[in-house]
Amino acid sequence: MSLRDNIRIVEPYVPGEQPQGDVIKLNTNESPFPPSPEVVKAIMNIDTDNLRKYPSFVCTELKNAIMQNYDVAEDEIFLGNGSDEVLALCFMTFFNSDKAVLFPDITYSFYPVWCSLYGIPYEQVPLKEDFTISKTDYCRSNGGVVIANPNAPTGILLSSEDVEYIVRYNKDSVVIIDEAYVDFGGESVVPLIHKYNNLVVVHTYSKSRNLAGIRVGYAMMCSELNAALEAVKNSFNSYTLNTVSQAAAAAAAADKAYFKKCTSEIKANRAYTVSELDRLGFKTLPSAANFIFSTHPAYSAKDIFEYLKSKNIYVRYFNKPRISDYLRITIGTGAEMSTLIAALEEYIK
Ligand SMILES: Cc1ncc(COP(=O)(O)O)c(C=O)c1O
Repeated sequence: MSLRDNIRIVEPYVPGEQPQGDVIKLNTNESPFPPSPEVVKAIMNIDTDNLRKYPSFVCTELKNAIMQNYDVAEDEIFLGNGSDEVLALCFMTFFNSDKAVLFPDITYSFYPVWCSLYGIPYEQVPLKEDFTISKTDYCRSNGGVVIANPNAPTGILLSSEDVEYIVRYNKDSVVIIDEAYVDFGGESVVPLIHKYNNLVVVHTYSKSRNLAGIRVGYAMMCSELNAALEAVKNSFNSYTLNTVSQAAAAAAAADKAYFKKCTSEIKANRAYTVSELDRLGFKTLPSAANFIFSTHPAYSAKDIFEYLKSKNIYVRYFNKPRISDYLRITIGTGAEMSTLIAALEEYIK
C-alpha cells in the first residue's frame, strides 16, 4: 500500500475571492459596515492575561445575549466557529440514514460538499422555472432536508407557512433551515422549534452582525437534538469558539439599535440598486437578502463580471447550469452601489 491510498481525496467548496487593496468587494455577501462600537469596546476590554486559558465551552455570556433576541433556552442553542462549522456538524449528526437528503439544485454550494465528505446520499431537487421552491417536492421519503431561506444565490424567500408545511410533513427526518440572510427581509422560523422537534434553524454573525472575521454561527433546536449535536462536537473539538469571538459576538447581539440601522440601510441600498439595474435593462430576482441575483438579456454575465473586475469591482459569477447568465451582487454602501451602477452604465453605453 502506498501513502497515497490512505489520503482522502475530496472536491472542496470554493469560496469567493478575497482580493486585497482598494477594491469594491461585492462578491461574498459580507457587510460593508464596521462592527458595532460596542463590539470594539468589548474586544478592547478583554483581559489578555485570560487568553492563556482555554475559552469557556459553555459560552454563557453569548448564549444569554442570544436569548435576549430569541425566546429560546440555553440548552436549545448550539454555537460554532461560523455557521459553516455548525452546518457541517449538523450534517454529520442528523443526516445519518441510507435515504437521500433533499436540497434545491440551486442553493449554497457547500451542501453537496458536506454530503460527499461524509458519504451522505443526496438529491438536488430542481427549483421551479422562476427559481422558487415547490414545498410539495420535499414531501416524500428522505434522509433529511436542508433549505437556505432566503435561498442563496437567488435571494428568494420561502414563506414561513411553506417552511412549516415542509417541517410538519417530515416528522421522521431533520429539517435544517439555514437563515444566514433572514435579517434582510425574512421572518425567522425559530419560534417553531417549540412546536417541532425535527427543526434546526441556523444563524450567523457574518452578515447582518457585520462580523464575518470573527467566525461565529449558531443553531437553535429542541434540547434533545442539541444534546446529540453537542456530543458529536465534543468528540471533535470542545473549544470551537475562542474567547475574543465570544465577547465580540455577545456585544453585537446586545446592540439592537446598530443592528437595525445597518440592516435598514442595506434594504434601502438594495431597493436603489434594483431600480437602477431595472433602468439599465437588467432583470433581478426578488431578493430578501443582502445580495441580488441579476441577468441582462443582451449581455453575457461572464463578460460583465470580467469587465467589473477590471474596474476593481468584484461580484460573483457561477459558471453552472441554469445560472450562468446571472451575477450575484452583494449590497454594499450607497457610494459603492452608485459606483457599480456608473460602471455598468458605461459598459452598456
Ligand atoms: C447560505 C449560507 N449559509 C451559510 C454560510 C456560512 O456563513 P458563515 O460560515 O460565515 O457563518 C453562507 C456564507 O456565505 C451562506 O451563504
